[in-house]
Amino acid sequence: MLEKFERYPLTFGKTPIEHLPRLTEALGGKVEIYAKREDCNSGLAQGGNKLRKLEYIVPDAIKSGADTLVSIGGVQSNHTRMVAATAAKIGMKCRLVQEAWVPHDDAVYDRVGNILMTRLMGADSRLVDDGFDIGIRTSYEEAIEDVKKEGGKPYGIPAGASVHPHGCLGYVGFAEEVREQEAELGFKFDYIVVCVVTGSTQGGMIVGFKKDGRADRVIGIDASGTVDQTRAQVKEIANKTCDLIECGYSIEDKDIHINPDYAYPAYGVPSAETNDAIRLAAQTEAMITDPVYEGKSMQGMIDLVKKGFFPEGSKVLYAHLGGQPALNGYSYTYRNG
Ligand SMILES: Cc1ncc(COP(=O)(O)O)c(C=O)c1O
Repeated sequence: MLEKFERYPLTFGKTPIEHLPRLTEALGGKVEIYAKREDCNSGLAQGGNKLRKLEYIVPDAIKSGADTLVSIGGVQSNHTRMVAATAAKIGMKCRLVQEAWVPHDDAVYDRVGNILMTRLMGADSRLVDDGFDIGIRTSYEEAIEDVKKEGGKPYGIPAGASVHPHGCLGYVGFAEEVREQEAELGFKFDYIVVCVVTGSTQGGMIVGFKKDGRADRVIGIDASGTVDQTRAQVKEIANKTCDLIECGYSIEDKDIHINPDYAYPAYGVPSAETNDAIRLAAQTEAMITDPVYEGKSMQGMIDLVKKGFFPEGSKVLYAHLGGQPALNGYSYTYRNG
């Protein structure tokens, strides 16, 4: 589906699919749980889902003649860490806006984890006191203008790379990769569980899995807490992607399954149940998930298994999208494990 698009390699290649027998057992053994380890996809600053997206954006950035990648996220943004890593790897400068998206006051929050690595890789990271919003922000537009005023040539990559025209392509590729791996494994997954916030990870998967009739088997677990905005963004970017790749179909409301039940109490703030889920995955499979994104999708998957949402005998693929560095910003929450 992606043959006509140029891809700049930032990842190791196919990500492994891992069976999770102890988590399966802990949840009653009636639904088999697997994980696709997008968190282990690259040697670039600990990797994660953004690199699959950036692989289809970098060729355009290089062609544009830019010398500076500009992007935006929260203080502990995985996305801005990945843009900083990409800039370092391709020899560009990096200008970042990091907003106060999370009402959280751990003493080291703006010193460790994602932002620490971002600074180490040489990015010019500026903290801005604005709250959470997945849309295009004034601070981001100003950063692009500032780079120009300083004589640079900026290339803008919006939050999560999602509303970039190529933002969904990487996760269309994910669906193709899963199909190849299913052929090797000799079975197909009945459901894919994925965290959704800015939308291009799930949006790309929906487009990719619609090809074999599985769009609505991609179960998005919202972690934004602003689910209507996220759902609208998923639909819009998925349809633009359908046009771009000329797949011959479009995405309708019935193709988009997003569960809003696990984003509470707010974006970036874990509930007691999120923390229980993080601990269960860590203690059964040594699989580390974070309190902002993957802990919430883990919580959602665990709860849906317990509620019988997945029919007995189903095979569920949990897309682990990365994000572990943010855990360092929650040192007090997890001080006793
Ligand atoms: C670790 C992790 N999981 C999930 C997501 C959500 O992906 P998306 O923004 O493409 O919806 C992100 C980024 O926002 C992330 O960094």
